[in-house]
Amino acid sequence: MRLISGVEEWRSFADAQRRTNRRVGLVPTMGALHAGHTSLFEVAKKHGDVVIATRFVNPRQFDDPGDLDRYPRTPEVDRALAEAHGVDCLVEPTLAAMWPAYPGPTPTTVTVRGLSDVLEGAARPGHFDGVASVVAKLLTVTGPCRVYFGEKDFQQLAVIRQMVSDLSFAVEVVGCAMVRDADGLALSSRNVQLSDVARRRALALSRAVAAVAEAPASASEHRRRLRATLKSADLDVVYAEVVNPVTFVSSVDTDSGDARALVAAKVDGVRLIDNGPVVLKGEP
Ligand code: PAF
Repeated sequence: MRLISGVEEWRSFADAQRRTNRRVGLVPTMGALHAGHTSLFEVAKKHGDVVIATRFVNPRQFDDPGDLDRYPRTPEVDRALAEAHGVDCLVEPTLAAMWPAYPGPTPTTVTVRGLSDVLEGAARPGHFDGVASVVAKLLTVTGPCRVYFGEKDFQQLAVIRQMVSDLSFAVEVVGCAMVRDADGLALSSRNVQLSDVARRRALALSRAVAAVAEAPASASEHRRRLRATLKSADLDVVYAEVVNPVTFVSSVDTDSGDARALVAAKVDGVRLIDNGPVVLKGEP
């Protein structure tokens, strides 16, 4: 596996792959890799010829400096996991290479209005501007055929799809199924911050999402059930919402058909998210 940190070396590695007609798949990550990430590497490897992964903890998507400091960093483990799961090139760009003006404001920002303003975006101001801006840069330097993201960050996936469509990036965005631990907890780099007790309480997020997936109900009944399950574990609920899975507009009780339930909660100060499909039974 090739390790690269400089932008020019990264660009010429990707250019060389395309010149020899090799299909490049890009998997952006912030490191602290787990089975959710390695599943993306494996899907990318099946689809294409070369897998480029990036490992960059992007400060522009953190609204809380404490959260950025606490974000887990496991570079040695990440390199071993990437290599073992088929990554051909791991790019670890420096902060200066990605955002030369940081910590000053970077003059250029990509904003996806609407989708970025609700749920995660409302709870973490500027978060999706940071995500869209960094992903735009990763796509520009790499020029992949496909880019891979997990459905755990369902709203992030929607924001990126919108950006790719609006800015005509020549890339297919591939959303991959969420990976869960055997007990149902969605895999997240933040799970290592949970004590054993907090981890057990955190299972209320996956229970909440699984419970509403079982039977069609009105939007407000789904919301009530989500909130009740989270509250039963005494979690600090950030949101428990049901939305249109493409527009992220809040569902109303007359809506029927497919929607998405999304929850975010803090467990002993650790912020976790989960989501899953729901069916709405519209009320007349
Ligand atoms: O999902 C993540 O790990 C990050 O938001 C991403 C897409 C790598 C951008 O920094």
